[in-house]
Amino acid sequence: SRPLIAVTRWIPDEAVKILAEAGEVRVSPADRPLGPGELREFTAGASAIVGMLHDRVDGALADAAGPGLRIVANVAVGHDNIDVPALAGRGVVVTNTPGVLTDATADLTFGLILSLTRRLGEGERLVRAREPWSFHLGFLLGSGLQGKTLGIVGLGQIGRAVARRAAAFGMRIVYTGRKPAPSEVESALAAEFVPFPELLAGADLVSLHCPLTAETRHLVDAAALRAMKPGAYLVNTTRGPVVDESALADALEAGEIAGAALDVFEREPSVEERLLARDDVVLTPHLGSATVETRTAMAVLAARNVVSVLAGNDPLTEVRP
Ligand code: GLV
Ligand code: GLV
Repeated sequence: SRPLIAVTRWIPDEAVKILAEAGEVRVSPADRPLGPGELREFTAGASAIVGMLHDRVDGALADAAGPGLRIVANVAVGHDNIDVPALAGRGVVVTNTPGVLTDATADLTFGLILSLTRRLGEGERLVRAREPWSFHLGFLLGSGLQGKTLGIVGLGQIGRAVARRAAAFGMRIVYTGRKPAPSEVESALAAEFVPFPELLAGADLVSLHCPLTAETRHLVDAAALRAMKPGAYLVNTTRGPVVDESALADALEAGEIAGAALDVFEREPSVEERLLARDDVVLTPHLGSATVETRTAMAVLAARNVVSVLAGNDPLTEVRP
């Protein structure tokens, strides 16, 4: 019989067609994330799992799927939802979708930066509320980007794409990470490596582009927020738990920073209640890669990984433990 390919949530037809070359495709009909028990049932007997970032995939799930499981293809660049060493230990390949979502995520990051610094959400709410308003020189003033310093945490593909956009806005760029980028990357971006504390102390806007790992969980905590410049902004388009959301609410209430834009949340889809009421916070529902082109490219890349591995070939974009 043909190998079973379990797809945990809707994916574009183009990707389903590619998967159908390699096996029997079963797509979850539920319009929501499967619960842990449902996910176990749905993936039982699968040779391949095409999963979403809300699916927890660990050794127990792989064991429940059975010995035929060969690949877990995450339709996301982030893979913090997957216990990669546990899967590697069982001979299961893990893949992600780097590259194809870089520009979409960097574009969304700049959308958030502009919404935050130019108070677009606040203005939109005011217009829709039919509040009286008129143009005047002091009305709904934000702050400009030119000459300001952008602090990029994690100068990977997405961080670099954000840096290129920031240069076009006339921003100075500093960045931090585990180690400095190659000097040709630094000079092409005119980006300067600084230690994290120095980035916090010097940046007018801090944008997070590091993956979620044990080291980056709550990287932006109460102490980090206190170390930011008063008047600085925080933007998070990577993974919610990189920021301590409750500490962020405290910092905004205390006026330690000027505002924050979040596309991702610590307990997605829940949002810290105190942030919801604040006008200095911009909130979007994990839209970083949400364009037709990008989502199609992500699903197609995941499907090609599955086809390749089920045919006995190397994966295209493997996540190594
Ligand atoms: C989305 O958040 C991704 O990791 O691709
Ligand atoms: C991180 O996933 C990156 O590509 O920057």
